[in-house]
Amino acid sequence: MSFELPDLPYAYDSLAPYMSAETLEFHHDKHHNAYVVNGNKLLEESGLKGKSLEEVIVGSYNGGAVGGLFNNAAQHWNHVEFWNWMKPNGGGAIPGDLEKKLIEDFGSVDAFKDAFVQAGVTQFGSGWCWLVLGTDGKLQVTKTANGINPIATGEGTALLGCDVWEHSYYIDYRNARPDYVQAFVNDLVNWERVAELFEAAS
Ligand code: FE2
Repeated sequence: MSFELPDLPYAYDSLAPYMSAETLEFHHDKHHNAYVVNGNKLLEESGLKGKSLEEVIVGSYNGGAVGGLFNNAAQHWNHVEFWNWMKPNGGGAIPGDLEKKLIEDFGSVDAFKDAFVQAGVTQFGSGWCWLVLGTDGKLQVTKTANGINPIATGEGTALLGCDVWEHSYYIDYRNARPDYVQAFVNDLVNWERVAELFEAAS
């Protein structure tokens, strides 16, 4: 296996005004591409070349003592998923079973959204906030630093993740990370994709 940069699943200008074409050009064409190119170089030297992306992530996590291969492999996975966690005219109604489960585990959809935004805002420095179906069968909101993700930590299945590295919002929101995470969860999320992952993991 080698890492490959997928095309965005929508037009660069189709997430505006919540995420601009300029942000997507830099984020996908430069940042994600760099994870692919650097990851492939490091993969060559690693002895993990025959493994799946998930196996490379787990195999290079090394109890959190992460190096270059982990950072690039995990960020490749995170970004492939991230593009699919958004869609033009996103947000809106949440498919029934998933909505029911969110209410069951968080009290309300708004309480989930508040927890998700809070996790994104309080992740100090670069990282991600997540909606995870935990190994105990409960939904939970978590946050991780840099490229670390739920595959690496083994805390459950990632159903949704929001990139809170500055490269994902600085062009459109400058330093206002709360506004960006709020726009993500209210106006960008592809809930059909999240529901698909929920059904598969349930
Ligand atoms: Fe990113």
